Amino acid sequence: MRTTVGWHAADAATLQRAPVRRRTLRPDDIAVRVDYCGVCHTDLHAVRGYRGEPGPMLVPGHEFTGVVTEVGSEVAGFEIGDPVAVGNIVDSCGDCAMCRAGQENFCREFPTLTYGGTDRRDGSATLGAYSREYLVRDRFAYHLPDGLDPAGAAPLLCAGITVWEPLRALGAGPGTRVAVVGLGGLGHLAVKLAVALGAETAVVSRSRGKATDARRLGAHEFLVSTDDSDMNAAGDSFDIVIDTISVPHDLGPYLGLVALDGTLSQVGYLGPVTVQTTDLLIGRKKLGSAGSGGRPATSALLDFCARHDITADIEVLPSARVNEALDRLERNDVRYRFVLDLSDLDRSSI
Ligand SMILES: NC(=O)c1ccc[n+]([C@@H]2O[C@H](COP(=O)([O-])OP(=O)(O)OC[C@H]3O[C@@H](n4cnc5c(N)ncnc54)[C@H](OP(=O)(O)O)[C@@H]3O)[C@@H](O)[C@H]2O)c1
Ligand SMILES: [Zn+2]
Ligand SMILES: [Zn+2]
Repeated sequence: MRTTVGWHAADAATLQRAPVRRRTLRPDDIAVRVDYCGVCHTDLHAVRGYRGEPGPMLVPGHEFTGVVTEVGSEVAGFEIGDPVAVGNIVDSCGDCAMCRAGQENFCREFPTLTYGGTDRRDGSATLGAYSREYLVRDRFAYHLPDGLDPAGAAPLLCAGITVWEPLRALGAGPGTRVAVVGLGGLGHLAVKLAVALGAETAVVSRSRGKATDARRLGAHEFLVSTDDSDMNAAGDSFDIVIDTISVPHDLGPYLGLVALDGTLSQVGYLGPVTVQTTDLLIGRKKLGSAGSGGRPATSALLDFCARHDITADIEVLPSARVNEALDRLERNDVRYRFVLDLSDLDRSSI
């Protein structure tokens, strides 16, 4: 075993600095010095839902970039010093139909999550990247393309890929209309990606407060979800609606925006929902979801972002301010993603 340092949930309100134990490097592992890790709303759900010990330690963090510091004896594709990016899955069975189709995110044995998962080989609980070092199986690390800012690129690995897969699978591009509901970490990347794919893109937000930002991000239209005239005027008009709202909510108003044979993809709140069948029936509408991404799609996303110069709009904070980042994310006070700079963990006390 080896020990690094990171931020763990002392309770549901506070992360504290603590030693984090990592496995001994395996032949197909790379060790990554974590430089930047995005703060995903899923981290907030995990921390606020944390019930404390007994139970595994909780170290969040599943969208990060850094530099390779060590490679296992069987690793061929990475060298010490390579800039890399890692997302929210770190292993899968590699053998099921989903894995063979390049959809490791849907592995029938369930993929190994970057934190809060169970390592497939030693059964240990996975601990995330709010820490200075992460060990990852080489297949689940990606070369960070030249030209992508490592801090701004970190959120591509969860927020970005989570909206990229449904946008691609549903055919977003020239001639399609996309609405993105909720302008947060996922939402703002969905807007940038949909616009770059060539789709006519709208933002649906709770107030007009983010309208200027939405235009700056490239959106062509802005709808206020609490304004019936906005929502009625846009009824039945979007081929793809990507719903990133982080709390339970009625899907009816957003299904109302979907065009004939179009799809509402709900990627935010993932609990049970109630749907009026007639909201689907009228217009033969479809309801779907998505999460994370397979290895081919993740590589494609990074290439696409490098070509189109897309990274997240971020506020970088030293990792010692992680609790402030979570509190502000909870208050929706971020435009549009916090990224922790983990280098402060090199100092012996912060
Ligand atoms: N499927 C997956 O694999 C996956 C991956 C990552 C994250 N997620 C989930 O996706 C959700 C969004 O994550 P995120 O990191 O983008 O969160 P975020 O940055 O907090 O953004 C969520 C957005 O939802 C809207 N919203 C918040 N509270 C709302 C409320 N009470 N009613 C209506 N809208 C509300 C806000 O947009 P406006 O201010 O514009 O209204 C907010 O910006 C979270 O639940 C997260 O756990 C899922
Ligand atoms: Zn995430
Ligand atoms: Zn599998």
